Amino acid sequence: MRRKLLLGNWKMNKTVTEAKAFATEAKTLGREARANKIDMGICVPYVDLAPVKKILKNSLIVGAENCNELDHGAYTGEISIPMLKDLNISWCIIGHSERRMYYAETSEHCNKKILALLENKMTPVYCCGESLETYEEGKTKEFVEEQIRVGFKNVSAEDASKVVIAYEPIWSIGTGKNASKEIAEDVCSFIRGIIKELYGSKVSNKIRILYGGSVKPNNIKEYLTQDDIDGALVGGASLDVNSYKELLTNLL
Ligand code: PGA
Repeated sequence: MRRKLLLGNWKMNKTVTEAKAFATEAKTLGREARANKIDMGICVPYVDLAPVKKILKNSLIVGAENCNELDHGAYTGEISIPMLKDLNISWCIIGHSERRMYYAETSEHCNKKILALLENKMTPVYCCGESLETYEEGKTKEFVEEQIRVGFKNVSAEDASKVVIAYEPIWSIGTGKNASKEIAEDVCSFIRGIIKELYGSKVSNKIRILYGGSVKPNNIKEYLTQDDIDGALVGGASLDVNSYKELLTNLL
């Protein structure tokens, strides 16, 4: 039985002051989530990691939104995995469509980051998903398949199930135009099939696949009751602490 996973993604939002206020209010949520066999957390901007982690400790998962695959060096503006580990951060989003779109990140590059995170016993949340154009051309599956195959290159069977996959159709992110639960389930089940082909059913039954894209308190349940959707990656609705809390309560 796969545990449900509910992850917020703040993107480039919240000053440290705002982040601390949110964390203080959200602190008790983790216990409630765990009591219902749900893992819950938020991925936050780098500067917010230390203060938020200090408040939340292990009550909620605190993750980063990106990292560099190298340990250190002359890469101005980058943050390394040892820097995250030093803050006891062990989760990190990789390959969000905004990073692919605005910072030219490729699946090959994401693969390096995934391998580096796994080597450091951390949990990558690997995002995939197609543009509106690809969707309208009916090429979603072949596009996503390529992202998955490249992202998992050289990932061992032992490590593969430690990766969390997030399927986020770009046309549904921040647009309020969420994919129907049928579309989301169809692609998530297709992704599980690729993992099965690559690693066998033991791994494909274990790996967690999230849906993301305009998930709100009022629609979260319809996604999470699908067979192959194990949770949600939530942007906008994770910014307000009351709506973040409702994501959980509406699921119970
Ligand atoms: P959204 O963002 O919930 O605001 O659509 C989701 C994401 O980008 O992870």
